[in-house]
Amino acid sequence: MDVVRIQGGRELSGTVTISGAKNASLPMLAATLLTRETCTLRNVPDLSDVRFMVEILRHHGATVENPAPGVWQVTAREIQPRTPYELVRKMRASICLVGALVGRLRTADIALPGGCVIGPRPIDLHLKGLARLGCEVSHKNGCVIVDAAKARGGYVFMGGRHGSTVTGTVNLLMAAVLTPGVTRIDSAACEPEIENLCQMLRTMGARIDGAGSPVLTVTGVTQLHGCEHTVLPDRIEAGTYLLAGAITGGDVTVNGAVTEHLGAFLDKLDEAGVAVEHTGAKAIRVRGNRGHWRPVDIITLPHPGFATDLQAQFSALLALIPGISLITERIYPNRFMHVPELQRMGADIAIEGATAIVKGGAPLTGAPVMASDLRASAALILAGLAASGETWVQRIYHLDRGYEQFDKRLASLNAGIERLPASAMPKDYREE
Ligand code: EPU
Repeated sequence: MDVVRIQGGRELSGTVTISGAKNASLPMLAATLLTRETCTLRNVPDLSDVRFMVEILRHHGATVENPAPGVWQVTAREIQPRTPYELVRKMRASICLVGALVGRLRTADIALPGGCVIGPRPIDLHLKGLARLGCEVSHKNGCVIVDAAKARGGYVFMGGRHGSTVTGTVNLLMAAVLTPGVTRIDSAACEPEIENLCQMLRTMGARIDGAGSPVLTVTGVTQLHGCEHTVLPDRIEAGTYLLAGAITGGDVTVNGAVTEHLGAFLDKLDEAGVAVEHTGAKAIRVRGNRGHWRPVDIITLPHPGFATDLQAQFSALLALIPGISLITERIYPNRFMHVPELQRMGADIAIEGATAIVKGGAPLTGAPVMASDLRASAALILAGLAASGETWVQRIYHLDRGYEQFDKRLASLNAGIERLPASAMPKDYREE
């Protein structure tokens, strides 16, 4: 297993180009199962989660090719409806296959994924939505079985106690595009990845109105055809690199990001005193502006609010900003697994319910730390870049799920970062 070693304290500078979005690529790969014809996806990031989704598509019977970097071609002539636990448990996002299987085969039999380290991840809203369309939903041996033989379009309210659901909306959309009649999805997720999925589905022949809004109207069609589609840029990756520039007091430009997808995040960076500049249609530049930093309060919310997937990384910056900042998690109330590790690096953060109280300003010092999930890994690396001395981040397989060549790209921005085999780490730091 590899680890990352960071020599902190260097200002980052330069330009980095953003990859395609992980959280769009995964449902789009699933959506290729909706047709017998070939779908070509471009700008797909090279991530372990993507390779894993491809493995699942092959398991279902699809032929999948990767003719060029970032290009995946899927042909799903004949597919089968069963996704076993050994596949689902490796990647929670595989639950987005339910909608594709229901749409195409009118049935799905998929193992339930269970929770994960960022908190419980129920799918009750997905199943409620499918039931509203007239699907029969049953559970057996840890699997959910959906029979959509009698499904018809209908009214579905997708809101829950934490707001809309991203993958729930994906599943409902993919089921509804091939379900007879008109389906209205209220309180649908408005994330840019959903809007981009709607564009792909429309290219395949789906009839969807309201993409990007909380009300989606889907008129079922009898079949979909193949498509070519380009995945939108990853706004979370973009935000993470902007934070890397900010936290090191550096000067970093991200290319290829869509500014409107980062509205709440950029607003908070600006409020924190970081200099943010739009240097081109798709280029955002940050300069660390250290002497001008101010504490800020953040509440994570569904899009267009502040993204939960940037919360951990922003916490690392707030740990260095003198004064008290409050971070409230409204999406995953327990998503603070990065905090104990940041504390080991000297951060003064207390957790009170779903809020982290950050008493910022203490200098961070390098330490051996353990990544618990994807965004926590990124947060620890950002902290390491700003800390004095050496930081070792273990369990970086989490990082490879969602950031393409993160260490190499940071190194190209002048970061002192290296990926090494665990054996290179001092013995007393290693996990057994
Ligand atoms: N929820 C329910 N019932 C449901 C579904 C969700 O109560 O049936 C709750 C969840 O427990 C959570 C909230 O609703 O509190 C939002 O969950 P959502 O369903 O929107 O999350 P998701 O679709 O499972 C996607 C991303 C996550 C991202 C969230 C929120 C993908 C593959 N995953 O998850 O990404 O945090 O939306 O924006 O798109 C990441 O990339 O690091 C990541 C975790």
